Amino acid sequence: AAPSAFASESDDVINAAHRGASQSTPENTLAAFRAGTDQGADLIEIDVQRSVDGELVVIHDTNLTRTTNAEDVFPDRAPWNVGDFTAAEMQTLDAGSWKGAQFTGEKLPTFAEAIEVIRKSGSGMLLEIKSPELYTGIEAEISAALRESRGYVQSAVGQDKLVVQSFNFDSMKTFTELEPTVPVGLLGTPTIDRLPELATWADQVNPYHTSIDAAYVAEVHRLGMDVLVWTVNAEADMVRAIELGVDGVITNRPDVLNSLLEN
Ligand code: G3P
Ligand code: CA
Repeated sequence: AAPSAFASESDDVINAAHRGASQSTPENTLAAFRAGTDQGADLIEIDVQRSVDGELVVIHDTNLTRTTNAEDVFPDRAPWNVGDFTAAEMQTLDAGSWKGAQFTGEKLPTFAEAIEVIRKSGSGMLLEIKSPELYTGIEAEISAALRESRGYVQSAVGQDKLVVQSFNFDSMKTFTELEPTVPVGLLGTPTIDRLPELATWADQVNPYHTSIDAAYVAEVHRLGMDVLVWTVNAEADMVRAIELGVDGVITNRPDVLNSLLEN
């Protein structure tokens, strides 16, 4: 996209809930997204992948073992890759109990379900396309899904409530060509000499929080892009990030960041 002023028009630091409020609830579930909003998040970060039957689903790892009971339910389906299961199969799984018995029955959401819950919540969406090299053509499918969902692109972009990001810069280039009005973020820490070219089409550079200093943030800003850092969970690290001048902080603890920003 052309450099947008997603965050830079405001002095407010964006509070982004990483996989939802993932410290207190099971990551990338509808419960985590709702909790993110309740804890004061401006954006809910989600990870989108694709099922074997072509449905978009929300999960971080490219296999199901850490955050679901797939090994128990489908014992003969090793290595339990997301892309080998149908969406219906994945929706039979328990994506909550690994985090605590009180979350038993939380489901692995489809992307459509995530859009609906986040839309109703009032928070925006920070959508990571996870490992797009495994899912050829996923950029166009995400674009179509956002548009089919009652014009989510049009309404969310106008309110600064949608950003798409990835570690895969080629995927982001593809996405911005499909959806030039949607801001795109580059995950990682590209070297300073690469930034001018990236600034011709990207809107955000989103690095790991300890990988940057104030000079790096200033250079990204000089080129017209914003900086959202991840994954910042300790209060002292949140303070450091804010002092570096970042535009947003991606955290498992949006409640802690919210208190800090209010005081
Ligand atoms: O939003 C940034 C962050 O989510 C990137 O890392 O591995 O948690 O998806 P990861
Ligand atoms: Ca992510």
